[in-house]
Amino acid sequence: MKLTLRDLEVRGKRVLVRVDFNVPVEERDGKIVITDDTRIRESLPTINWLREHGAKTILMSHFGRPKGKRVDKYTLRPVADYLHTLINQPVIFSHDTIGEVPEKIVAHMNEGDVALLQNLRFQPGEEANDPKFAEALAKLGDLYVNDAFGAAHRAHASTVGITKFVPKSAMGLLMEKELRYLHEELDHPGKPFVVILGGAKVSDKIGVLKALMEKADTILIGGAMANTFFKAQGISIGASRVEADKVDLANELLALAKKRDVKLVLPADAIIAQEVRAGASSRESGQLTPDHGIPDGWQNLDAGPETIARFEGEIAMAKTILWNGPLGVFEIPDFAKGTFAIAHALARSNATTIIGGGDSVTAVKHAGVADKMTFISTGGGASLELLEGKELPGVAALTDKH
Ligand code: 3PG
Repeated sequence: MKLTLRDLEVRGKRVLVRVDFNVPVEERDGKIVITDDTRIRESLPTINWLREHGAKTILMSHFGRPKGKRVDKYTLRPVADYLHTLINQPVIFSHDTIGEVPEKIVAHMNEGDVALLQNLRFQPGEEANDPKFAEALAKLGDLYVNDAFGAAHRAHASTVGITKFVPKSAMGLLMEKELRYLHEELDHPGKPFVVILGGAKVSDKIGVLKALMEKADTILIGGAMANTFFKAQGISIGASRVEADKVDLANELLALAKKRDVKLVLPADAIIAQEVRAGASSRESGQLTPDHGIPDGWQNLDAGPETIARFEGEIAMAKTILWNGPLGVFEIPDFAKGTFAIAHALARSNATTIIGGGDSVTAVKHAGVADKMTFISTGGGASLELLEGKELPGVAALTDKH
């Protein structure tokens, strides 16, 4: 058990908070616009708790991958301005990450003030987990809180190194919530526990698949990763995307599911087309079998009607559902039906519904059912690593509770 925010005495203290403000942005009329502010909003409970308890809050985050150099387009200033509008209070922006500028800022902060440091990744010491950089960061605070679940799988200076230079390090409220759902809840899931895994590659999901076979009753496979399983079963896949070198692995996974008595369900049919573009002519494949596969030149781009009905049936019976990865090329409306149908089936179900980060989060948002889910993770890579059963370095480094 690790210390949490509520275990800290923060009044009058400078509290360094690692957040994940790595948000998607777009340039519109020369201005940077945040296109999805979920990660910023999800850090508000921690920020507001600290404000209410009289802390001096110093936020720090990475943004993009500027590779240790100052790159103007990756400045966090627009995020500071945006946060200002959310908390209705000025956010003091330090245009340097460490050194004299932030040192002066923190020395003049009052209880309840909020500051944001410049992008951590403008400094080469961040990703290198350089102790000197970690110490320079630590100098800016009295206590450390990690609320950056999305970056907790990275062993960087601001997530791991810094903990050596502060007396206490605790997890923030978002970090706590992420671990509660993705770790504790899924360790003892309500049964039947149904997992839906989609996305392009089997190779991205091997660890997750193996780990979840220990706990799940049913695993529904969709997206392009299903093609590798089709191939393993001798079903022709036409010109569909496939990982030819993972066919043996797919066979192993099918055997493992049998051994563990896990129902592993592949798509029964698909929506196929010859081109991956909006408006491309498409059709239903019909039931896919070794005698009736996807024709040459055609690609599997979405789940077909039989697959949707089968998956909906499994979802309706579940007590716990975990979803990671879309069932088709849902960015193109012609191939979004399967993914959105699953999103709506989850919204209708009475189960605990957990969306494990990445594209499926975008999908539930586009389907307009995000508020119907029990929990949506803010982590992409971090949620996958956690689901694989790996320890997250950013959590392991925090102070143990006695
Ligand atoms: C993410 O967006 O998944 C996190 O912020 C981590 O970013 P990274 O993959 O650049 O480390």
